[in-house]
Amino acid sequence: MSSILGNSSKKISSDNSLLSAAVGIDDMAVYIPSLYLPLTGEFSRQRDIDPEKLTRGIGVERMAVPDAHEDAATMAAMSLLELMRRCDLQPGDIGKIYLGTESAVDEAKAMGTYVIGMLERVYGSGSFQGCSTVEFKSACIGTTLALESISYWVAAGEDERIGVVIATDVARYPLHSPGEYTQGAGSVSLLVKRDPRIAALEQIYGCFTRDENDFFRPLGCATATVNGKHSNQCYLDAMQGAFASYAAQAAQKGLIAPKRGECTTDWIEHLLFHIPYPRMVEYASAAILRQDWRNSRHWKNVEAEIGVEPEPQNYADLEKYQVDLAGYARSFARSRYFQQAYNAKVKDSAALSRQVGNIYTGSIYLGLASLLELRKVQAKERLCFGAYGSGCSALVFSARAMPGISSVPSRGLFERLERRREISLQEYELLHEGEGKESLNRPSEEFVLARIDHQGYRHYEYVR
Ligand code: CAA
Repeated sequence: MSSILGNSSKKISSDNSLLSAAVGIDDMAVYIPSLYLPLTGEFSRQRDIDPEKLTRGIGVERMAVPDAHEDAATMAAMSLLELMRRCDLQPGDIGKIYLGTESAVDEAKAMGTYVIGMLERVYGSGSFQGCSTVEFKSACIGTTLALESISYWVAAGEDERIGVVIATDVARYPLHSPGEYTQGAGSVSLLVKRDPRIAALEQIYGCFTRDENDFFRPLGCATATVNGKHSNQCYLDAMQGAFASYAAQAAQKGLIAPKRGECTTDWIEHLLFHIPYPRMVEYASAAILRQDWRNSRHWKNVEAEIGVEPEPQNYADLEKYQVDLAGYARSFARSRYFQQAYNAKVKDSAALSRQVGNIYTGSIYLGLASLLELRKVQAKERLCFGAYGSGCSALVFSARAMPGISSVPSRGLFERLERRREISLQEYELLHEGEGKESLNRPSEEFVLARIDHQGYRHYEYVR
């Protein structure tokens, strides 16, 4: 492996103790609605946006759109059903379902109970009654906090059953707003167990939390309020804080022990970040690598390419320093040295998101699905995840790919996305505003929201 890519495989190959006690992700299933809106063409023309801005500046091509019969609960049930079928699971095998969402369909009732109700239409009434479920709300980081929690339950080993973590969301902003072209929808289900085939969690969690107004959805509002540019900055601040905490803990526990000239990311093959839109992942990796490389052998290569980073003691005017520092950060992000690392360790994780858009709390796991579908991860490689939730919080943690990873069948996700139905801007706008009452695709072999009764209770069915 070349120096810029790190060499963690060698460094971890002798550590078998971790592998034997492993708890982590054994398999995953992804559900994306079968309708999509292309973001170039009619959308960019009508919104008067240069298509290049969307495909290059933001990094998106298509937006997944839920049909009239879908909501966050049906999507969760669809990804769970696929996971159970893929892994030949029976309801009695599942001890806990932790569900992360910021698209709650009820202020009190846990979405997981609706999901269980739907699954019982397939597996039989009462078949999930021994399984507990809870909803994790913490913006886009909810599912990651659910994964952290369930992993400790599985590791405790007091119950032989497996855990399931579900992410499900509809990312929705007002029409014509700058958030509109980052929308998307989908669900990811993760099977969490001992001796997982895909990746073992290393159980180090670097955390950063701060009270912020970057993005929120007051009670009763159907779309989020977002302070766009501020939300980007909160994401970067939180990610840098959480990464520093992760690196310190990993060093203290001897998991990652950089020698002279080395840095933490030398021990990591894949960096996966929360993906509100693909360009954000590039901004995040630039911020993290700039922070991590500064005191390592990489920095002399950076300085050779873009010069010396401005330092505050050389400035009488603080504003001028801030301007020069921001310029230096832009040069760093465009440097060949950074772009080479970004292409090697990060870029592929955003492949599916380009075709789907933001799925909020599941986006980071859509990133994992991208790497798995592209067959980019080899056994023993280290994956480092940077989850972010507005409001705001970040959690950085790592996992190691297991020998069984190559035996897990592909989900054919890229091919499935190609089979979706393209919809017009008008059809999209009607669905967005809740005025498209008829399904555009006739449901088949799927869960549907059949009606909401006079009490507000939701009735779901399985359509064969
Ligand atoms: N051709 C190519 N590139 C172009 C271009 C063109 N014609 N015009 C503009 N661009 C580039 C810009 O230069 C910029 O790239 P650089 O940063 O490299 O300079 C990029 O396109 C973005 O353009 P803008 O800066 O003009 O951004 P915008 O006004 O479109 O807003 C946004 C972007 C703030 C993310 C907005 O889409 C938004 O509010 N989104 C929702 C909030 C969000 O996703 N925040 C992310 C962090 S919060 C989070 O992560 C939680 C979550 O899931 C929501």
